[in-house]
Amino acid sequence: MKLWRGGVLATLAGDSGWGLIDDGALLVDGGLIRWAGAVAALPPEAAGAEVVELGGALVTPGLVDCHTHLVYGGNRAHEFEQRLHGASYADIAKAGGGIRSTVAATRAAGEAELLAAATKRAQALIREGVTTLEVKSGYGLDAATEARMLRVARKLAGLGLTVRTTYLAAHALPPEFADADDYIAAACLWLPDLYEAGLVDAVDAFCEHIAFSPAQVGRVFDAARRLGLPVKLHAEQLSDQGGAQLAASHRALSCDHLEFLSPAGVQAMAGAGTVAVLLPGAFYALRETQLPPIAALREAGVPIAIATDHNPGSSPTLSPLLMLNMACVLFRLTPEEALRGLTVNGARALGLQDRGQLVAGQRADFCIWDGAHPRELAACFGHNPLIERVCHGNQGEA
Ligand code: NIG
Ligand code: FE
Repeated sequence: MKLWRGGVLATLAGDSGWGLIDDGALLVDGGLIRWAGAVAALPPEAAGAEVVELGGALVTPGLVDCHTHLVYGGNRAHEFEQRLHGASYADIAKAGGGIRSTVAATRAAGEAELLAAATKRAQALIREGVTTLEVKSGYGLDAATEARMLRVARKLAGLGLTVRTTYLAAHALPPEFADADDYIAAACLWLPDLYEAGLVDAVDAFCEHIAFSPAQVGRVFDAARRLGLPVKLHAEQLSDQGGAQLAASHRALSCDHLEFLSPAGVQAMAGAGTVAVLLPGAFYALRETQLPPIAALREAGVPIAIATDHNPGSSPTLSPLLMLNMACVLFRLTPEEALRGLTVNGARALGLQDRGQLVAGQRADFCIWDGAHPRELAACFGHNPLIERVCHGNQGEA
């Protein structure tokens, strides 16, 4: 047993509030939090534990980055320049760039090369406190390369964090297919083998005028359901396609982006318990002006998560802390909503109920920060106050 004591705990216990405990302590046993509370109220079993003094530092749950495209070849900095010269994300995609250009680079990269690049990116996320990471496929768009991406994603768990993998073959139409329906049929056929190989935790799709229609996404979701896999959706990022309603009808874990989400979509998500994953990095980088309907989501009680959406095109950020700040500045989330979004609600967007709050019974995934109050994490940007990150009770290098 190990006892961390003498810090400010932001437990995020319950459905709202910081759950602050001044001069708090965490008792950890077997990778789980056995007890969390004030030092003054330590339980008797804490007596024999190895003690780590927190020295007044701030402790929060470990960060959960619930939406990334971390595994890929190449980069798309040239598209950044094209957008500065006036091209839109959709223009670039329609001209064969965008996702398709990363598909070409990813197909050309071997497994070792993909792993080396993804490892550096995951280490950057870890340095800012990430303890749980979701990684999507979707830059292979053929059976072999999708499998390679997912294998690489799984290997990242060796860095000392939980990795959840998501099958996103319905991301773009690959060049060898002329017909999107034919491609969707193929992508549905590849899924069972990948699932049998233990490479898939959830299934995602990109529902958009530059990607796939709700009818096509519905076929992908049916294939997921046949295997008992949960679904997620890139929904209403550039236009309202009714994707949120479709995803909710499949009891999706999350709908992500959501700038063009309609009132009917909000209600459908609320009814299904679907998490709204907001991605301020993509909103910022694409200079979007249409805000996701935050007030309506709040009013309907839809849980809000935030994530980096790390990818080489629309959101090439590796800073979850910057996302906390952007979620507040760009989307007007409160710092508490933003931190819940990157912890307990991010976990919920992955179907994980066992982490994201510093309460007894949860996994001992937490971050120790140089700070006195959790709102400081959202107020700063371009600064990393992480002192140490503890994943499953193991003290790791910050
Ligand atoms: O979440 N919107 C679709 N997919 C990614 C972007 C992928 C890319 O541009 O490579 C996103 O923003
Ligand atoms: Fe994405």
